[in-house]
Amino acid sequence: MKLLLIGFGVVGQGLAEILQNKSAQLEQEQGFAATIVGVVTGSKGSLFHADGLDIADLLAAAQSGSLAEYPEVSGLRRGWSASEMIAAGGADVLVEVSPTNLETAQPALSICHQALEAGLHLVLANKGPVALDYANLRAKAQAKGLRLRYEATVMAGTPTMQLAEEALAGCEIRSARGILNGTTNYMLTQMEDGMSYAEALAQAQALGYAETDPSGDVEGWDAAGKVLILANALFGSSLTMADLDVSGITRISAADMAAARSAGERYKLLAQATPTGGSVKALRLPLIDPLASVAGAANAITLETDLLGDVTLIGAGAGQLETGSAILSDLLAIQRMACPM
Ligand SMILES: NC(=O)c1ccc[n+]([C@@H]2O[C@H](COP(=O)([O-])OP(=O)(O)OC[C@H]3O[C@@H](n4cnc5c(N)ncnc54)[C@H](OP(=O)(O)O)[C@@H]3O)[C@@H](O)[C@H]2O)c1
Repeated sequence: MKLLLIGFGVVGQGLAEILQNKSAQLEQEQGFAATIVGVVTGSKGSLFHADGLDIADLLAAAQSGSLAEYPEVSGLRRGWSASEMIAAGGADVLVEVSPTNLETAQPALSICHQALEAGLHLVLANKGPVALDYANLRAKAQAKGLRLRYEATVMAGTPTMQLAEEALAGCEIRSARGILNGTTNYMLTQMEDGMSYAEALAQAQALGYAETDPSGDVEGWDAAGKVLILANALFGSSLTMADLDVSGITRISAADMAAARSAGERYKLLAQATPTGGSVKALRLPLIDPLASVAGAANAITLETDLLGDVTLIGAGAGQLETGSAILSDLLAIQRMACPM
């Protein structure tokens, strides 16, 4: 399987590392072999080789700060755009791991459409295209007999989409409610232990959970992007951000936390999707709710189903290998679909 990687930061390098470390096991146990033929970054250059790039050299170049450090070899192309790599042909899957843009989904969205038109399967960790243009991407993929997979976009490698769409395929899913932003869950956990909002935010930033501009997390927009993905994928909705009721954790005070505690409840930033809408809100949950016990930077989701009742999944919602693992599982699923046992 030949891969084009759009983006080669935390997640792209995580995937490369996993492919490097597990190649023998994946080939032996699952007959899976993947080659990275192209890598595009925003500012560190790009590389393409129709026969595949050497992963160790690629990682070393990326870690040195510039893909210009990749050794010269015959047939290597430097500086090509994603469009040029797609047009060159030969790749099977476009892996979109560039930054998420929840306003326009660009430039990734145009590249995703180009890739599908050229006959490439699509695997995304980038939430933008799936949150904002799922229906068109899905229709284009189906018309071409291609796969559109996006496990990494919700709860990283914790298999939310595969649980909902594959393991629970025989169930009707009535709602999805979850803790889909690890930064805010970490902050709320710290605030429960007595920290102020400002102290919890400073600690989340020091640990690398929160960005310098934390608004996407603390105002609920990152979780809202995931609500749109769940609503699109599980309920066939065509909701936009404007249809969601979104608020974050910025107004929760120490007094609010204390009031919840004395009532036997806990604040969680709850992301919810139903067939008719979606929201992201800080709500008080009773301690018996499985989501109430999810602490720190973990994520969790409860799917309400007709046949099984509530099914709750708890796990990592971010991280280099955690997110790389979601992409690997999507690639393995594409291979299984192409060559069913
Ligand atoms: N990190 C996680 O735990 C996680 C979990 C789930 C989903 N995601 C999603 O996965 C995606 C990648 O996350 P990340 O943590 O790997 O981000 P990152 O470390 O910031 O890496 C982003 C990569 O994209 C490149 N890039 C920037 N603009 C580009 C453009 N216009 N065209 C092509 N490449 C471009 C960057 O290159 P330069 O460095 O040269 O700008 C960098 O290589 C994001 O959409 C994120 O929301 C991440």
